Amino acid sequence: MIRRCLGGLALAALVSCADETVVAPLAERGAALARDPNVSGSQYNRFACTTCHVDRPAEAGERILPGAPLRGAARRPSYWNGETTHLREAVVRCWVHFMRGRAEDLEGPTGDALGAWLESLSPNGATEGTAPIAHTWPRSTRDLGAGGDPARGRVLYQRACANCHGAFGSGQGRLGPLVSIVPQDTLAEHCQGELPAGVPDYASYARQVAYQKTRHGSFLGYAGSMPPFATELLSDEEMAHIVALFRCP
Ligand code: HEC
Ligand code: HEC
Repeated sequence: MIRRCLGGLALAALVSCADETVVAPLAERGAALARDPNVSGSQYNRFACTTCHVDRPAEAGERILPGAPLRGAARRPSYWNGETTHLREAVVRCWVHFMRGRAEDLEGPTGDALGAWLESLSPNGATEGTAPIAHTWPRSTRDLGAGGDPARGRVLYQRACANCHGAFGSGQGRLGPLVSIVPQDTLAEHCQGELPAGVPDYASYARQVAYQKTRHGSFLGYAGSMPPFATELLSDEEMAHIVALFRCP
């Protein structure tokens, strides 16, 4: 009954419900689940929804978060830069790819609660945040070059990466042992051994890995759970400063 009334994430369309006594507690439970890094049930996940998303843009402060603000999201006509029109599909992507959850697990009470929470952020008639978010991830594989400024890179690292990766160079405070230590882990792996075809030297390789990983979350067959950063969040120019932090010894 609750499911039919609410829609939740189990159904493609979210329908709001007049019965506040049912909806409000469910939305509150959803808000708590959105903050819980154990919500997906995967031992490999350390992220909560709120690791990557805020409610309103101002709540991010200085931080650059990879996911869009969620206020108004339930009323947006499309998601993931127009790749899907279904809210459920938009959330399943995060759930499966970043949080290592099983899509089926959103069919039950967890999906209902998260759906009610998203719905509560976009009450009927809401206009705030309801326009589609323009986030693009152009598939450029170019080498951004050695011209970036590491000092500016450190500032950007603090705003965009430290949230998960912890302190630069030591990883202190990172979300867990499965989160790489930047830049050490990358340099240890990519400043030696065989170079992929077309990559001229290790310095270029380290820059390309850093760039592609940050822009797409994957590179040359690398998978993982790191979210991609759209150009609207980090431009290629800013990315060149970040990449300058990845210098082979
Ligand atoms: C590791 C980071 C990360 C986590 C964790 C995460 N997301 Fe996302 N989410 C993203 C990224 C990146 C996008 C695509 C960029 C964007 O928001 O447009 C996205 C997109 C979305 C969108 C579509 C926004 C739009 O307008 O395009 C919704 C809705 C959403 N996420 C909800 C959730 C919910 C609910 C959770 C928790 C169950 C969650 N996300 C967990 C990173 C994350
Ligand atoms: C939401 C959490 C999160 C954020 C934010 C994040 N990362 Fe990551 N990153 C990860 C995780 C988890 C891994 C390890 C798993 C994987 O490879 O996806 C990783 C891996 C990496 C790697 C690969 C390291 C290796 O082993 O070679 C690089 C490079 C990297 N991140 C750079 C960055 C940079 C630069 C930023 C900021 C612009 C950033 N990350 C922001 C979670 C995050």
